[in-house]
Amino acid sequence: MAAAEVTDLVAMGEDFVRDPYPVYAALRERGPVHKVRIPEGAEAWLVVGYEAGRAALTDPRLSKLWKNASPSFPIASPSAGPHMLNSDPPDHERLRKLVVREFTPRRIEQLAPRVRQITDQLLDAMVALPEGRADLVEALSFPLPISVICELLGVPMLDRAAFHAWTGTILTDPDPGARLAATREVAAYLAELLEHKRLAPGQDLMSALIRTTDEDGARLSADELRGTAWLLLVAGHETTVNLISNGVLALLTHPRQLAALREDMTLMDNAVEEMLRYDGPVETPTFRFTTEPVRIGTTVIPSGELVLVALADADRDPARFPDPGRFDVRRPANGHIAFGHGIHYCLGAPLARLEARIAIRALLERCPDLALDAHPAALTWRHGMLIRGPHKLPVRWTTSD
Ligand code: HEM
Repeated sequence: MAAAEVTDLVAMGEDFVRDPYPVYAALRERGPVHKVRIPEGAEAWLVVGYEAGRAALTDPRLSKLWKNASPSFPIASPSAGPHMLNSDPPDHERLRKLVVREFTPRRIEQLAPRVRQITDQLLDAMVALPEGRADLVEALSFPLPISVICELLGVPMLDRAAFHAWTGTILTDPDPGARLAATREVAAYLAELLEHKRLAPGQDLMSALIRTTDEDGARLSADELRGTAWLLLVAGHETTVNLISNGVLALLTHPRQLAALREDMTLMDNAVEEMLRYDGPVETPTFRFTTEPVRIGTTVIPSGELVLVALADADRDPARFPDPGRFDVRRPANGHIAFGHGIHYCLGAPLARLEARIAIRALLERCPDLALDAHPAALTWRHGMLIRGPHKLPVRWTTSD
């Protein structure tokens, strides 16, 4: 078989980081899977399109276990331990079951008053700024989800700035050495944190998980406890931040859609789904490795190779979403796969939705003339293919005095 042509996504530079959608769409025109070079420093098979994406996400021959990567695979696992998102069945089910009941829509709905309170405090501080200008990422998108996940897990003492720097390095730094060093630091930090919690337990999720490990190590080992804590903290604060930022950016760059939403806030739930579809926070989800040769379309991917599913492209596939590049808060946006699909479907989806709905509604109510304070083309975007979002989102509004 002739060697597959490799599309070098890294060589496309900042243009691709800023707006990857046309690149994915052009690949999709040529077929459902393509060999690409990715910024993390490896070659991967990129699956594009809605149907092919969903099929790949439920294909049991695509494993989440790093040990199924071919021996020459150049990237180390970025995790501080085993957890549901880097496990296959049956471990996956065991690890997910331990926390799933904490994240049901009903349980999460009970957090609404607290999410509103934190949002109000953050917006009080923001609108008090005398100049009527702020970076929305710093003022709202970042602190809200991290405050909520820390409270849920019972981690008040988390050193947020350090943790944010580590996860930023692990998820987006092109240098493998830097990624590995940050992973080790996080693992050590979490071990210490868990020890602290073991000595002073509370009514929180982390204490409950520690009890499970101590009483029944067969259900959750110490390594899995560290891995699960890591996963929940990272997933809980690296994703929703970009739903709020990307969503507000979409509104501010589509004034008619913003006006429609302001006029009828009952559109908010659907608007958040459209934000997830149109410019979701997870561009391509976590790594999967073929456990045997896998045919997609006319291409056979050999065993042990990395497969990435372009969620961002699936949700802009015109075969599923007509006129997909149009942001429309009234379109039926359900069916998007911004939260993934299959057994690894996002555990935190109800929480992310709750936070985004509350935060964006409160923001629009508190700042009736909110506007972008930069040209959209001047925004810089996070690197790496996992997470999509701007580093900063400058906004302005008219202050009351
Ligand atoms: C808008 C915000 C979010 C988005 C777009 C998002 C997206 C995703 C996606 C795409 C996956 C699947 C990854 C894959 O299959 O490789 C996933 C899994 C997961 N997410 Fe989220 N997520 C968000 C927020 C959250 C939050 C707030 C939590 C918090 C606690 C969370 C926890 C998880 C967990 C634990 C998994 C692994 C599930 C499993 O392996 O069974 N996520 N998320």
